Amino acid sequence: MKKIFPFVLQIGMGALLFALPAGAQNNSAENTLRTVCQNCHGPGGDSLSATFPRLNGQPAEYIVGQLKAFRSHTRSDPHAMAYMWGMAAQLDDAAITALGDFLSKQKPTAPQVGGALAAEGRKIFVDGVEARNVPACGACHGDKGEGVGQFPRLAGQHADYLRKQLEDFRSLVRTNEVMHANTAEMTDHDIEAVVSYLAND
Ligand code: HEC
Ligand code: HEC
Repeated sequence: MKKIFPFVLQIGMGALLFALPAGAQNNSAENTLRTVCQNCHGPGGDSLSATFPRLNGQPAEYIVGQLKAFRSHTRSDPHAMAYMWGMAAQLDDAAITALGDFLSKQKPTAPQVGGALAAEGRKIFVDGVEARNVPACGACHGDKGEGVGQFPRLAGQHADYLRKQLEDFRSLVRTNEVMHANTAEMTDHDIEAVVSYLAND
């Protein structure tokens, strides 16, 4: 699934973009989600493949911010460009607000229990790593990584997606000054540990 799904999608993506109904933004958020977004992000935003982030239970403000960042091309890592620029271009502000509202109300996925490095990851999440200027993630992302406002939910997200975002912030491929500073001195092992604590595959 993991390997085949993105491949099939890449072939189908041109067609999919064309297939977006002209009036998609006027339909209900639920309808847009089911007819367009669900192809990648899964039913109710609970995606099956780690290429596609889970959106269920993500704070509305964060969703709205990201969709506008895709639309304005501010979020410009290769996957954002390939998959989300075209999608966001079809959405007006009202559609974006409605999608954020609907997705934030979908039941979030719980994080896994018993990740191999979960105990170490929890310590980084709660206390940070002073020696490497890594802050306590929970200070912004919520005590349990549940997210609030502009700070995304991390708990229950796909491991490969979380790892990739942290690497992309660290290498400045994904824009965000706050997360650039937070990840600048994170080691690969630090990243593995927090991912092991937070993710659910
Ligand atoms: C062709 C596949 C595809 C479709 C269809 C799609 N997305 Fe995405 N979406 C992606 C991928 C891949 C990413 C991750 C981009 C990255 O890695 O930077 C993403 C990221 C996002 C994010 C950012 C999530 C986060 O945690 O930062 C939001 C919000 C989002 N999509 C909303 C939507 C909405 C709403 C729709 C329907 C209008 C939609 N997407 C349709 C592939 C898709
Ligand atoms: C000072 C506040 C702050 C702290 C502390 C913080 N973050 Fe973030 N983080 C943010 C903001 C703001 C964003 C959204 C960036 C954007 O809008 O693109 C974010 C985004 C992320 C994302 C992307 C999620 C997604 O769905 O795409 C990940 C992963 C992440 N942070 C992990 C961490 C980890 C792990 C730590 C601890 C080592 C941490 N953050 C500490 C503010 C913070």
